[in-house]
Amino acid sequence: MSTPMEIAEQNPILEPAIHPPHDASMEVSHQNCSQPTIIAEQLGVGEPLAATDPPPPPPAPTPLHETKFLVSVEVCLKPSSTARLEDVQRAVERMLENRSMSYVDGLVLIPPHDLFLVENVQRICICDTEEWVKNNDVLLFWQVKPVVHAFQLTEEGPCEELGPDGQPSSFNEWILPAKEFDGLWESLIYESGLKQRLLRYAASALLFTQKGVNPNLVSWNRIVLLHGPPGTGKTSLCKALAQKLSIRCNSRYPHCQLIEVNAHSLFSKWFSESGKLVAKLFQKIQEMVEEDNNLVFVLIDEVESLAAARKAALSGSEPSDSIRVVNALLTQMDKLKSAPNVIILTTSNITTAIDVAFVDRADIKAYVGPPTLHVRYEILRSCVEELISKGIISSFQGCDGLSIPSFSSLKEKVNANELHDTDTNPWFCKQLVEAAKSCEGLSGRSLRKLPFLAHAALADPHSRDASNFLCAMIETAKREKSEHPE
Ligand SMILES: Nc1ncnc2c1ncn2[C@@H]1O[C@H](COP(=O)(O)OP(=O)(O)O)[C@@H](O)[C@H]1O
Ligand SMILES: [Mg+2]
Repeated sequence: MSTPMEIAEQNPILEPAIHPPHDASMEVSHQNCSQPTIIAEQLGVGEPLAATDPPPPPPAPTPLHETKFLVSVEVCLKPSSTARLEDVQRAVERMLENRSMSYVDGLVLIPPHDLFLVENVQRICICDTEEWVKNNDVLLFWQVKPVVHAFQLTEEGPCEELGPDGQPSSFNEWILPAKEFDGLWESLIYESGLKQRLLRYAASALLFTQKGVNPNLVSWNRIVLLHGPPGTGKTSLCKALAQKLSIRCNSRYPHCQLIEVNAHSLFSKWFSESGKLVAKLFQKIQEMVEEDNNLVFVLIDEVESLAAARKAALSGSEPSDSIRVVNALLTQMDKLKSAPNVIILTTSNITTAIDVAFVDRADIKAYVGPPTLHVRYEILRSCVEELISKGIISSFQGCDGLSIPSFSSLKEKVNANELHDTDTNPWFCKQLVEAAKSCEGLSGRSLRKLPFLAHAALADPHSRDASNFLCAMIETAKREKSEHPE
């Protein structure tokens, strides 16, 4: 079976919007060229975008110590905090300036003597350093310019809009960043740099718009299409991307919404109402977009249902109303395209026959493939760590639960013949690799359910014995594959 990366590389539709992985040595950003307001810098994606920012200052010789990596630092405020985001941001910048620390992905301890931070900040997290370094290297403080993003999660759930006569709602709306999507981005694991590509794409799209690039000279739009088999995380990735961008772009766009269009409900039995529903929905979106400080994400999930309806209508096997709905939707999407502050996210479970109307409209079309061995191991590792941290299974000696080696560090250890020399429990890691192997063919969604099913299959659910648990997981994976081949 091909890996997602292999497929992605063979897939010509990916080409236009995807930047090849950058050589870390090239990814330095010259401080005197960058302006704090530009979105590329807000996203922490560095010079390639910042370099397009006119007018360039005279090329003064840059001392080595001023050439720095832009690293995103996300600061989540406590729900109780009433501090201004800018104040927290500055306080964290000052705190980081005063510390000679190394930069690796993960949490930064809040200094207990900094009462302002202690009172207002829930967590400080360094993100995406693997963009700049390979082989688990660390960045030292003098190599880094931290780009701090402070945010506070909204606690309200989605607000649902009911259709006429209490029919299923035609959309859900979230104010971002939402508590519901906290940690979603981090929980999604892909090997091919997919998440970074999507972030870079969004950064370029928003920057081009912000700078007023003439669309007749350079054409681009803000439509993303993720396609691939069911259960590979496409819907989650769209929501996570919206959440991420709402955090990273909040100094330019302090207000951010995600509208999830329920495509199925648009084809309800109230067909005659559907055209009106689409019009009403997009009128609402248009109103949001008119507010310059709003960034609006529109998620149209499973667009193949719209495309299929259109096709069926064309062949006469569906009421012609459905074609009106789809056409209304496409027309509205085209109208929205001219607004600078909207990003349309679409997904499709069908890889081959997506309606050309959608394919042509999307700028980035990324294939999201089934999880590779590496990804399966990482998903299971995160599940096992969670169960250990909650005391449902016990950790192994030497494996304290939060330090089960990652797939790449495990590979390095095996190559260097160090597996037995370190504090890693080799048997535990081997079993986890075995479990990941036995899950070949299962989707990410099934993988995340597997630990639960394995636990339910244990003879003694209170034993907490990790070896029994891993064996049960292997058995359950085999059973799942035979009972529900995906
Ligand atoms: N690559 C992955 N890494 C981690 N979790 C995944 C992955 N793929 C799928 N999942 C899990 O499966 C769940 C369901 O995915 P979903 O977004 O509904 O998939 P799709 O829209 O492709 O059908 C996700 O919330 C996530 O928990
Ligand atoms: Mg989905």
